[in-house]
Amino acid sequence: MSAQIQSILHPAGPDAHIITHFAWVMFGAGTLILIGVMALAVVAFRRPGRPVRTRLWIFGGGIVFPVVLLTALLAWSTWRSVDLTVQTSNKALAISVTGNMWWWKVRYYDPISGREIVTANEIHIPTGRNVYIGLNSADVIHSFWVPALAGKRDLIPGRVTGLTLRADKPGVYRGQCAEYCGEQHALMAMHVVASPPAEFEAWLAHQAQPAAPATTPMLVRGRAVFLAQRCQACHTIRGVAEGGELGPDLTHVGGRMWIAAGTLPTHIGTLGGWIADPQSIKPGARMPAAGNIDGESLRALAAYLEHLK
Ligand code: CUA
Repeated sequence: MSAQIQSILHPAGPDAHIITHFAWVMFGAGTLILIGVMALAVVAFRRPGRPVRTRLWIFGGGIVFPVVLLTALLAWSTWRSVDLTVQTSNKALAISVTGNMWWWKVRYYDPISGREIVTANEIHIPTGRNVYIGLNSADVIHSFWVPALAGKRDLIPGRVTGLTLRADKPGVYRGQCAEYCGEQHALMAMHVVASPPAEFEAWLAHQAQPAAPATTPMLVRGRAVFLAQRCQACHTIRGVAEGGELGPDLTHVGGRMWIAAGTLPTHIGTLGGWIADPQSIKPGARMPAAGNIDGESLRALAAYLEHLK
């Protein structure tokens, strides 16, 4: 699956195509006007002192021209906006996303078990189908923005907003928080992983499973360290310790591409570094450093989390 750089110039969904079209038309019109004005300025400087038809230029260039052009662009963009996707959860796959300082809680409804499947920072969707992202915030205003797929929508505490998006082809689309939300606003990324419907269903079924069992002495030790460090006060690992909701659900953390909201790629080294000293990596993050942890225990805990695919 191809990972994409975050780009507004490579639309991969219907609304993103329309928005990109808007941007190019506005950019083109702006460029033509700029070139025209600059050309007139050159002419004016080269022929100083010559009488000009002042009234014509002031009324024509200062009033008539902008009114006509801006009205035309407004009419065109309004007409074009009609094609934007209707914002509704009707017939769409509904996914709930909650903004937190500074990560994204992602919840699915599992149609088989009827229970919620919780994950973080990585939003899997099927291609070719409208997905309605229900948005709210646990703390301050954030903004959900995956430029390759759709426009932005703010997440507002105490209110539910929503955004419909669709990916036409498989891929990994990076997005980020687009509303300043505190010191780690810049490290609040998310990835939308679009895959063919069957692959998505398989992913969802796997996510519904409880955590992978600890199968080696090292992993058993890692799980014991998780509990001894009281990580479950904030994190849930389904089948091991449930209820912690202040931090990301870790049931399948090892299967996610990134940790700390797009900050580091997931592997045993980054997991260990993050657990030992999150405040050096992401100062101000709500995650405290593990206390009094020896090297062997840290390694076992990181190995255990990496194992939770
Ligand atoms: Cu969340 Cu900026």
